[in-house]
Amino acid sequence: MALLNFGGVEEHVITREEFPLKKAQEVLKNETIAVIGYGVQGPGQALNLSDNGFNVIVGQRKNSKTWDKAKNDGWVPGETLFEIEEACEKGTILQYLLSDAGQISLWPTVKKHLTKGKALYFSHGFGITYKERTGIIPPDDVDVILVAPKGSGTSLRRMFLEGRGLNSSYAIFQDATGKAKERVSALGIGVGSGYLFQTDFRKEVFSDLTGERGTLMGAIQGIFAAQYEVLRSNGHSPSEAFNETVEELTQSLMPLVAENGMDWMYANCSTTAQRGALDWWKKFRDASKPVFEELYSEVAAGNEAQRSIDSNSQDDYREKLEEELKELRDSEMWQAGATVRKLRPENN
Ligand SMILES: NC(=O)c1ccc[n+]([C@@H]2O[C@H](COP(=O)([O-])OP(=O)(O)OC[C@H]3O[C@@H](n4cnc5c(N)ncnc54)[C@H](OP(=O)(O)O)[C@@H]3O)[C@@H](O)[C@H]2O)c1
Repeated sequence: MALLNFGGVEEHVITREEFPLKKAQEVLKNETIAVIGYGVQGPGQALNLSDNGFNVIVGQRKNSKTWDKAKNDGWVPGETLFEIEEACEKGTILQYLLSDAGQISLWPTVKKHLTKGKALYFSHGFGITYKERTGIIPPDDVDVILVAPKGSGTSLRRMFLEGRGLNSSYAIFQDATGKAKERVSALGIGVGSGYLFQTDFRKEVFSDLTGERGTLMGAIQGIFAAQYEVLRSNGHSPSEAFNETVEELTQSLMPLVAENGMDWMYANCSTTAQRGALDWWKKFRDASKPVFEELYSEVAAGNEAQRSIDSNSQDDYREKLEEELKELRDSEMWQAGATVRKLRPENN
C-alpha cells in the first residue's frame, strides 16, 4: 500500500500503480463475479469489470425493464444474464447491488447460496452496519467486503470510458478465507476506481449518509433555494437569480475548484469577489455547523437508516418519490434552470 500525505495526515491507500490491472486479473482469474442488480451501480461495475477482462455474470429479476436494459447492454440470457437466484448459485463473488430495500427482501435467497469460501461484496455499508434493522447477517465462512465508488454508477462508467477513474473506499468486515484483502483490492481496481482509501462499514455508511444529506445533495439544494428566494424577493429576475445561484457555480466555478482547489479559484476571480468570499465563508460554516452536527447524530443513532428503510419498502414508494421530485422540478428556480439549460449554446 502506498503511504500518502493528506494535508499533514498520513493515509495508506491502494493505487493502480502498485496494484495494476494485471495483478487484479491474476487474483480473480478463477472467480465468477456475479453482479446482483442492474440499477445504477450494477451496470457501471459489471461493464467495467467485463471490459477489464474479468469473468462477470449479471443477476436481475426477469419481466422488468431493467432486464431489458441488461440485454441491450450486451448481457446474454442463459450465458451471462440470469435470474437473481441462479446468478447467486453460479457466482463465487456476489456483488450485492440491489437497492438497499431490495437487499433486505432478497437476503434469504442470497444467503442460501453463500457457501464456504465465497465473498459477499457491497458498495455501501448500510446492510451490515444496521444488521439488526436489515436482518443481513452473513455466514461466518465467507468474506464480507466493500468497494464504494464515490459517485454515481453512471459516472463510474463514463469516466472509465474516458480512461479516468472514480475514487472508491474499501473495507473488510470479515476475512474468512485469508484472501479478503487481495480480493477487495482486485475488485476495487477492476471496477474502475481511481485510488482506493480504507474505511470500515460503519464509517462508510455514516459518511455517505451525512454527505448525501449534506453538501452533496441536501444542503446544496437548501443553500440554492435560500439564496434564490432572497434574490427574487428583492426584485431580481429569475434569470439573474438562477445564474448567480446555480449556473455560474456548476458551469464555471466548480470545474475550476475540481482542477485546482478553492484557494486557486478565489485567487483567479475578481478582487471584489475574493474579498467577499473570504469574509463570508466562515459565517456560513458557523451557521450550518449545528445542522451538520444534528445530521451526523441522527445518522449515528440509526434514525436516518430507519426512515429510509420505512419509506423505501412501501409499495407506493416510486409514486410518492415522483410527487416530491415534481415539487422540486416545478419550483420556479428549477423551471428557470430548465430554460437556462436550453439556452446554452451547445444545446442549440
Ligand atoms: N446509485 C449509485 O450510483 C450508488 C453509488 C455508490 C453506492 N451505491 C450503492 O450500490 C448499491 C446499489 O445501488 P443502486 O443505486 O445501483 O440501486 P438501484 O438503482 O436502486 O437498484 C435497483 C436494482 O435493484 C433491483 N431491485 C430492487 N428491489 C428489488 C426486489 N425487491 N427484488 C429484486 N430486485 C430488486 C432492481 O430491479 P428492478 O429494476 O427490476 O426493480 C435493480 O436491479 C446500494 O447499496 C447503493 O447504496 C449506489
